[in-house]
Amino acid sequence: MITLSNLQKVYQGESGAVNALDNVSLEIEQGEIFGIIGKSGAGKSTLIRCINLLERPTAGSVVVDGQDMLALSEAELRDARKSMGMIFQHFNLLSSRTVLENVCFPLEIAGINQAERERKVLPLLELVGLADKRDVYPAQLSGGQKQRVGIARALASQPKVLLCDEATSALDPQTTESILALLKDINKKLGLTIVLITHEMHVIKAICDKVAVIEGGHLVETGKVYDVFTNPQSTTAQDFIKAVVNNKVPDSLVEALSAAPIAGGNLVLRLSFFGETTNEPFIAGLIRRFAIDVNIISGNIDHLQDIPYGTLLIELSGTDEAIQNALNYLKVQDLKTEVIGYVARHAHAAN
Ligand SMILES: Nc1ncnc2c1ncn2[C@@H]1O[C@H](COP(=O)(O)OP(=O)(O)O)[C@@H](O)[C@H]1O
Ligand SMILES: [Mg+2]
Repeated sequence: MITLSNLQKVYQGESGAVNALDNVSLEIEQGEIFGIIGKSGAGKSTLIRCINLLERPTAGSVVVDGQDMLALSEAELRDARKSMGMIFQHFNLLSSRTVLENVCFPLEIAGINQAERERKVLPLLELVGLADKRDVYPAQLSGGQKQRVGIARALASQPKVLLCDEATSALDPQTTESILALLKDINKKLGLTIVLITHEMHVIKAICDKVAVIEGGHLVETGKVYDVFTNPQSTTAQDFIKAVVNNKVPDSLVEALSAAPIAGGNLVLRLSFFGETTNEPFIAGLIRRFAIDVNIISGNIDHLQDIPYGTLLIELSGTDEAIQNALNYLKVQDLKTEVIGYVARHAHAAN
């Protein structure tokens, strides 16, 4: 649906040239929710604005729905842009217009008469849950409602692609969740391709199929959200994931940990699960097979696109030999086993 090849964007700033995008290539499929995550200043807005040519790339190519965007005339570009809706962090609504008038605005610009405009727009107000607010002004709406107006307005010209620039960054967590659910709903109902940029990993985790990680104008990682989450390659992706996956060893345990084996001590392990393995009763299996006790220190099992994943911090106690046998057993299972360290028995309260 969208193919970006070797995109480069150089801004001529007051203090010299800024290389906002450097050799960025990516492919976004029809019907997909594609997330782009990066820190502030990474080049996210530049990238998404290069898709509808609100920014013209310095070099590279942008192909949307088979059209080479950079080869279009002004009139052709205006048409192509109608097939791409956009929503923004600060909604960009017209304060002097009602909800209905805001949503109708793109159609008014396109020269469509009022009756036809309303015929197209009223179902959209229904879709975003604002049918009863049609004659209200933006100042009377909550942030979430304003973004719903933004979404309805973006959908007014029946686009194939929806570009979302930090669309939930100004919203509280609960409202964010409801807006993300609405985007997912629209993606399903209308088959709309959604490109979503954010600096928050939980947004990616909530609705995206694929994710690209951008840092300093470079794409450092791209893949299915599940793969990037369970096996991030770049330190940037790892940092973002740390913010949503708590697999830290508790401080009280860190103080008692020794990296070297302690004779007669307990072994602390971190187990990471991907996919099906979480359904297997391997803890029961461990206890049954080996003469050991298993103490769960902390756990965090979650679901990503309905696939279970997460980590468990456990402590094994038993004879040195039994612990070693259990560790060997775990190492051949379909999960990642990391030795965190050893603690003297009873050094850490087992509870
Ligand atoms: N119009 C502009 N003129 C000069 N520099 C810009 C302009 N727009 C963005 N930049 C710079 O380009 C880099 C990327 O910006 P941006 O795409 O807005 O990042 P993000 O959306 O990830 O925060 C930043 O260093 C920013 O300061
Ligand atoms: Mg931005």
